[in-house]
Amino acid sequence: MKKFYITTAIDYANSRPHIGHAYEKVISDIIARYKRLRGYDVYFSTGTDEHSANVCIKANELKLDPKVYCDEIAAVFRELCAVYNISINDFIQTTEERHTKSVAELFTRMDKNGDIYRGHYEGWYCKSCESFYSKSELTGDGLCKTHKTPADLIKEENYFLKMTRYTEELQKRIEKDIFMIRPQTRRNEILSMLKQGYNDISVSRANQSWGISFPKDANHKVYVWFDALINYITAAGFASNDEKFKKWWPADLHMIGKDIIKFHCIIWPVMLMSAGVELPKEVYAHGFLLNKGEKMSKTKGNVVDPFDAVNKFGADAVRYYFAANIINGEDGDLNEEAIKLSFNTNLANDLGNLINRSLNMVEKYCAGSAPAYAGSFGAHTKAIEEEARALWGKYSATMEEYAFSGAMAAVWKLVGTANKLIELEAPWNLQKSGKTKELETVMYLLLETIRLSAAGIAPVMPQTAGKIFAKLGLPIDPVKFDIEKEMQFGLLPAGTKVSKGEPLFPRIEEKK
Ligand code: MSP
Repeated sequence: MKKFYITTAIDYANSRPHIGHAYEKVISDIIARYKRLRGYDVYFSTGTDEHSANVCIKANELKLDPKVYCDEIAAVFRELCAVYNISINDFIQTTEERHTKSVAELFTRMDKNGDIYRGHYEGWYCKSCESFYSKSELTGDGLCKTHKTPADLIKEENYFLKMTRYTEELQKRIEKDIFMIRPQTRRNEILSMLKQGYNDISVSRANQSWGISFPKDANHKVYVWFDALINYITAAGFASNDEKFKKWWPADLHMIGKDIIKFHCIIWPVMLMSAGVELPKEVYAHGFLLNKGEKMSKTKGNVVDPFDAVNKFGADAVRYYFAANIINGEDGDLNEEAIKLSFNTNLANDLGNLINRSLNMVEKYCAGSAPAYAGSFGAHTKAIEEEARALWGKYSATMEEYAFSGAMAAVWKLVGTANKLIELEAPWNLQKSGKTKELETVMYLLLETIRLSAAGIAPVMPQTAGKIFAKLGLPIDPVKFDIEKEMQFGLLPAGTKVSKGEPLFPRIEEKK
């Protein structure tokens, strides 16, 4: 069986989850579910990054032991995964014992290869990014460009990693797409960083109390980014379960945000090359969620809480919004009015109405059973049959590129064509004039569109897909079926008993 190991970034444990975290987990989950439906054995991991200095500060403020605090926050992130139906196989916390072992092992290997040395570090540090910068990387008045807060000048004896030994080889692997970076714009950014030249970097911090001890020197802690990146091999079994590690590593995909590509596309592969561990196959950088074009922040009061969004619209509707309305790889807009509009238009009107009307007519005109397909009889039925036959090609091509909005557009185009078919062929007239064969053809095409749509939305809206299969009387488990097979035209068996039941998406009305 082909395997697929997918990871998200691990989230800082110094605050509660925000909608951006939910977005990254959902789009990764769509890929994980799609791959399972394509027959892959999938391992999907996420987790929390717990050794940041900010975690320690936050725990002190709350007068909690940092580990106790981390466990509380990790529980909230696990809950986020549960409410969004994220089908993870592992949730890793970097304070776990298996991770400490894995960090020590990787550093020992890098050191054995002669790549760790002691040196003097002088540079600027932004606490919020947990990142070192040169003066030229800050604004003219010494602020971090992302956080607009002053960076601290750090002067200390540190351990360094010989990045320079590997960057040329890394550049070649990126250029040959052996180590893939997508989208193209991010690949170009990384290549230009590498061409400008990359210095050795500091991998330890002196005088810190919170963090993993540096294996060579107990007076130092591992710099939090180095500790965090290693989570990807820890979750796969590195240093704790060789058989598991052999099965899952290298990762097939790291799904991350565009702000952390330097760490994932330069530093992480160099660490692995230095330790003699295979590189992940691909890093994909998604964009940022903005609210009406603006960064979400507490001060602006425009933060969308990920738990509130699910409470108001349901997990599937928010998942659908992420997939259909945000172009993967680009920044996207998100606010409650936009989710509501998408709910009422795409889910209630387009898909919901198609299902209600069609099943109603099948109950009325065909005694609730799917008729046999008698073949197309004119331009309209011919056109929809052709579109339905072409759906898998369009759908799979976009899903393979992680372009979910394209895949959803292909499904919704077919749904739109089916809704139009009802108007064009007016089944009530076909019934009145006794055109039974034509009526059955139209009914079959509507049901077939619904079945194909359910299969296509299964990775995005698993609960809804399950409900639609049930309405069609099909014993299909939305998390376990052969999607390529199910998305071929003409598989709906004649005689299947359908049942209209409750509407899937009752419209959300304006509050009076
Ligand atoms: N802890 C580091 C990642 C270490 S991975 C070895 C970190 N944490 S984070 O909590 O700040 O961000 C976690 C993920 O959420 C990142 O991939 C980041 O890009 C993503 N997002 C943070 N804000 C976001 C939005 N507003 N929109 C979409 N994704 C966002 O970075």
